[in-house]
Amino acid sequence: MSIYKNVSKLLILLLSFASVSVYAQEAWIVPDAENAIVNPIQNSEAAIVSGQKLYKSLCVACHGNLGAGDGVAAVGLNPKPTDFTTADFHKQTAGSVFWKLSKGRGVMAPYEGMLSEEDRWALVSYLKSLKVEIPKKKVATKKVNNTFLFTQLINTQTVQTLPNKISEFTIQHRFGVTQLNSDFINDFLGMDLGANLRLAYAKAINSRLYAEIGRTRYGKTYDLGAKYLVLQQTIDNKTPFSIAVYGNMGINTQKFPKVIDGSTFVDGSNFSYSFAHRLSFNSQIIFAKQFSESFSMQIAPVVIWHNLVAKDEKNLDFVIPFGARLELNQKSALLFEVTPKIIAKNKRMPLSIAYEIASSSAHAFQLILTSTDRILEQSIYSNETIDYSQGKFVLGFNIKRLF
Ligand code: HEC
Repeated sequence: MSIYKNVSKLLILLLSFASVSVYAQEAWIVPDAENAIVNPIQNSEAAIVSGQKLYKSLCVACHGNLGAGDGVAAVGLNPKPTDFTTADFHKQTAGSVFWKLSKGRGVMAPYEGMLSEEDRWALVSYLKSLKVEIPKKKVATKKVNNTFLFTQLINTQTVQTLPNKISEFTIQHRFGVTQLNSDFINDFLGMDLGANLRLAYAKAINSRLYAEIGRTRYGKTYDLGAKYLVLQQTIDNKTPFSIAVYGNMGINTQKFPKVIDGSTFVDGSNFSYSFAHRLSFNSQIIFAKQFSESFSMQIAPVVIWHNLVAKDEKNLDFVIPFGARLELNQKSALLFEVTPKIIAKNKRMPLSIAYEIASSSAHAFQLILTSTDRILEQSIYSNETIDYSQGKFVLGFNIKRLF
C-alpha cells in the first residue's frame, strides 16, 4: 500500500512538471468567482506606495523597473514575464491579477505562500496604477536593451551601460604567449607563463551612465572610466542604431625605468619624471546595431593618448575596433573583435575570438583566443600585437557578473 502511495506521489510530481511546461503556452484562465472579486483596499495611495516597495524588491528582476517585462532575469525565460504596461494586461479585473499572482505559474511563483493578502492587494493596486505612471514615450517606442550583454565585448567597450542601481564585476585573465609546439603542453596552454589580470568594478549612476574602476597587473595600472549612452536603437528601427561615448584614464604605478643622466625633453630642458607621465587616456565613440535578436555588430573609433612615450614615438594612436556577437542559443554566443590600426607604431591588427557561456544576462564566462596579452585598450593598441602569422597566440578568460 505504501509503495503504491509513493509511486502515485511520484507520478503526480512528474505530471505536474510536465503540465507546467505544457500549460505555460496556454491562456491563463481565471475562475469566474475569483475574477469578480474587487480590490478591498481600493487602490488607495498608501496601498500603491506599499505595493511599489514590494514590487521593487520582489518583482523587478523579472518584470523590469517600469513593469515592461524586461528585467535582468527575463532574458532566457519562456514565456516572458508579463508586460504590465499593455492594454491587454489592464483589461483584466483586479481579482484576476490577484488570483494569478497568488497562484503563480511556471517560474512565476505562487505568492500566496509568501505574502499576506493585504500585501498582494497592495501589489495589485500598484500594477493597476502602472499604465498611468509610465511616460508615454516609453510605451510608444520600445528600446533595444540588449545589443550586447555586458559593458565589454572581449577587450573592447560595447554600447551597453548598466541597468539603474546595478553593479558589474569583471575578472579578465590572459595567459602567456604560446604556440602549438611542445611548449604548449609543457607550459600548460601558456598558463605557467607570466599572466596578465584585470579586476574591475562598475556601478550604474543611472541607466545611461556608469563609472568604473579597474586594476591591471601589467604596469600596475589603475584605470578610471565612464560610459554614457547617447542614443538607443528602437525596436521599430526609427532609431536604427545605438551610440555611446566612453573615456578612461590609466594610471601606471610601476617604478619608472631609469633614464640616462643628462636626458632632456624635446625642448632641451632637463628631463625628470612627473605624475603626469604615468597617465594615458582612451576616448571613443561607439556605434552599435542589433540586426536580429541573436546578432549585433559595433564599430568604435578610439583615440589614445600616452603622456610619456619613447623618443621618436607619437603620443597619439588612432584605431577602429570592430566587434560582433552571434548568439548560438540561449546560453552561448561567439564573440569576435578585430582592430585596424590607423595611427600606431605597429600596424598588425589585434584579433580576438571568444566563446561565451552565459547562464543569464547577469552572469557570463568567456573563453578567449587572442593575439594580445594586454587587457586595457590603450595598452593593447599602443603595443606590438603578437605575430599570429608565426602561430603565436594567447588564451584567457573573462568572468562577468551583474548584481
Ligand atoms: C522569476 C521571474 C519572476 C518574478 C520574480 C516575478 N514574476 Fe510575475 N511572471 C513571471 C512570468 C514568466 C510570468 C508569465 C507566466 C505565464 O504566463 O505562464 C509572470 C506573470 C505574472 C502575472 C500574470 C499577468 C497576466 O496578466 O497574465 C502577474 C500578475 C505577475 N507575474 C505578478 C508578479 C509580481 C507582483 C511579482 C513580485 C511579487 C512577480 N510577478 C515576480 C515571472 C516572474
